Amino acid sequence: MADRRQAEIRVPEPCSVVIFGASGDLTRRKLLPALWNLHMEGRLPDGFSVIGMARTPKTDESFRAEARESVAKYSRFRDLDAEEWRQFEAGLFYLEGKYATPESYTQLSALLDRLCDERGSCGNRLYYLATPPSGYVEIVQQLGQAGLARPEEGAGWSRIIVEKPFGRDLESARVLNAELKGVFAERQIYRIDHYLGKETVQNLLVFRFANGIFEPIWNQHYVDHVQISVAEALGVEGRGAYYEEAGALRDMVQNHLMQVMCLVAMEAPVSLDTRSVRNEKVKVLDAIRPITEAEAAEWTVRGQYAAGEADGGSVPGYLEEKGVSPTSATETYAAVKLMVDNWRWAGVPFYLRSGKRLPSRVTEVSIHFRAAPHLLFRGFGNDEPERNVLTVRVQPNESIALRFGVKVPGAGMDIQPMTMKFDYSEEFHAEPPEAYERLLLDCMLGDTTLFSRDDWMERSWELMDPILRAWKATAGALPQYPAGTWGPEEADALLARDGRAWTNPE
Ligand code: BG6
Repeated sequence: MADRRQAEIRVPEPCSVVIFGASGDLTRRKLLPALWNLHMEGRLPDGFSVIGMARTPKTDESFRAEARESVAKYSRFRDLDAEEWRQFEAGLFYLEGKYATPESYTQLSALLDRLCDERGSCGNRLYYLATPPSGYVEIVQQLGQAGLARPEEGAGWSRIIVEKPFGRDLESARVLNAELKGVFAERQIYRIDHYLGKETVQNLLVFRFANGIFEPIWNQHYVDHVQISVAEALGVEGRGAYYEEAGALRDMVQNHLMQVMCLVAMEAPVSLDTRSVRNEKVKVLDAIRPITEAEAAEWTVRGQYAAGEADGGSVPGYLEEKGVSPTSATETYAAVKLMVDNWRWAGVPFYLRSGKRLPSRVTEVSIHFRAAPHLLFRGFGNDEPERNVLTVRVQPNESIALRFGVKVPGAGMDIQPMTMKFDYSEEFHAEPPEAYERLLLDCMLGDTTLFSRDDWMERSWELMDPILRAWKATAGALPQYPAGTWGPEEADALLARDGRAWTNPE
């Protein structure tokens, strides 16, 4: 079990990262830039190597040239220092291969051996599944058959990072877990959720458990309800074919929003070790009251964006997007109301929502506290009780803000809401590291804390399955919302029925 304090200063042992799906978007936009950032921060070991593997014919040189372009475009260190780049690119290699062909793995094995001799990246391998999910099982099995999955005792380590989507329902997630565990041990499997690598998401734990004043009020005695919103301004951006199979519930809620919810709702772990933290997160899922298929209409809302106004112009509706069926019933917006049936949260709803083509890109967690028990200032024009709200802005403009009422100066007793705010960039003056940097580094260091365990994954799908079934059965009744608005009216009604309203970020 890795010591997380040490993870802050440790540099991993020499190793090779093998990226399956090296020609894809994820590699270009996230993985290579994250590895470069780590190199620039001095976090990568000597002899560190990357093998990009994909079907597209490419040479080491062309892979390096493409890597240079993506790093110059997407990394935190875009002004490439020539000497640093020379060192970094010397560790980049490309292997053209077919995922289902054993010879490709023989070649991979030979290349890994060569890098061991030439660069000293011996024995330690991190495999990254960045292909479409349909390729996962084949690659895992081939790695197993080629003897690349479990090193001999003392001969280094092998780990595997599995990208989302991890299955598309409970059954497929179970099958994938079983396939993975047929070849790798659970401690070698890193199911990634990049939201857990975001600085502000990690800060939720620090905020809650490193401060004495919040935890005593973090419960049903003081909290009225919690809102978690992940809004995106973009549409499906050329990913129509993928999104058609996914939809907002699978793409965002099952993973990113449920992970954030677990960090907000969990009990204090006994320590920061992997097992304790992951146990507490699973306990939250265990306590969530399942929404049955019959209840889905009352507890959930979905929607699909129609044409509207966004990015300062007119944008097409989802049905007009490339790769999308003109009769598609895929939701681009999902909202759910979840109850956590335990002592801490009994009676406190958690409202989660995520959508594409909303007015802005913003991720926020807001804790809405109960109103003061007695309206002392009634009759002074303050008949609506002021509710304190604590908002953790995960992105962009990372911040934590507390809203409270103050007296307006003057002879009267008027009360006005004000905000006390801590802003990350103002205080720390630096761009926070990318989520993928943190997670790749943690994996190289052997720390699984920020990755999902097998039971977390299955439990989370178990909660989604009845909702997905209900939505499928009522596909014809999918509400629409104009692009550039805060989702369908039904989502407002979901909270209005409880006498509440969404806080739409400015
Ligand atoms: C991905 C989803 O997991 O997260 C995308 O597949 C979504 O649809 C993205 O746009 C959002 O990530 P971020 O870090 O930009 O909030």
